[in-house]
Amino acid sequence: MDAIAPRPLQTIPPAFFGERVTWVHHWTDRLFSFRCTRDPSFRFVAGQFAMIGLMVDGKPLVRAYSVVSPPWEEELEFLSIKVQNGPLTSRLQHIQPGDTVLIGKKPTGTLLTENLLPGSTLWLLATGTGLAPFMSLIREPDVYERYERVVVCHTVREVKELAYRDYITGELPQHEFLGEILAGKLLYYPSVTREPFPTQGRITTLIESGQVFSDLGLPPLSTERDRVMLCGSEAMNADVKAMLEARGFVEGSNNAPGTYVVEKAFVTK
Ligand code: A2P
Repeated sequence: MDAIAPRPLQTIPPAFFGERVTWVHHWTDRLFSFRCTRDPSFRFVAGQFAMIGLMVDGKPLVRAYSVVSPPWEEELEFLSIKVQNGPLTSRLQHIQPGDTVLIGKKPTGTLLTENLLPGSTLWLLATGTGLAPFMSLIREPDVYERYERVVVCHTVREVKELAYRDYITGELPQHEFLGEILAGKLLYYPSVTREPFPTQGRITTLIESGQVFSDLGLPPLSTERDRVMLCGSEAMNADVKAMLEARGFVEGSNNAPGTYVVEKAFVTK
């Protein structure tokens, strides 16, 4: 009788860690989150992204994903769209606990507090999966030492795409050590564009009309006080960039801090 050959162990290319999926949550038919184990040597700063993916036909198939989890968490969490014919996400959307995912060993990115000049209010403007890096930043205690106030604005098409809404409004304020740190400092401003919702419209419109400021009881954007991080689609980034620059904001980078920073919410396939 032939012995059954053991399944060959997948060879993980040296640029990646092979990590085990521990949790998967589907928000909608277009959006899901997952967690995986984290190699102790994988270090990142809140706001960074890494190349994430799967081995496909013996080769890594990866895309840039911002880390959702804060640097102090034991595991890593990511937020992804699902595209039925997208090379990566058509596969990644089917992962289950126990599966192996690839995590690039070199996280990077510009959405870092050190790329911004000191200020008092930090605005985190996201559309869709652009919320991901901000989920990490709002759980980084250092952010609350740098800023008196942190405002997360998340715009999506439909209410159910407001991923992490219950977590931000319910669990996070009760968190054993963050709860106290962010009390009175973290403001959450969700808006929806294609369904009825208390706050409707694109963030660009809500800024232009001044509604976001009157709703939150905050003064209009000023380069003196406000710092902005921007993460959305190419079109959203371009529109908000133009609005900010018209108000005197200057883009910061890893070489020179500025009054705003921007990154594309990467994965579209
Ligand atoms: P809208 O429904 O008016 O297009 P998407 O799912 O296409 O990435 O969009 C996510 C959210 O971003 C939607 O609410 C969408 O609004 C909004 N959005 C799309 N383009 C822009 C833009 N140029 N500026 C601001 N918001 C935008």
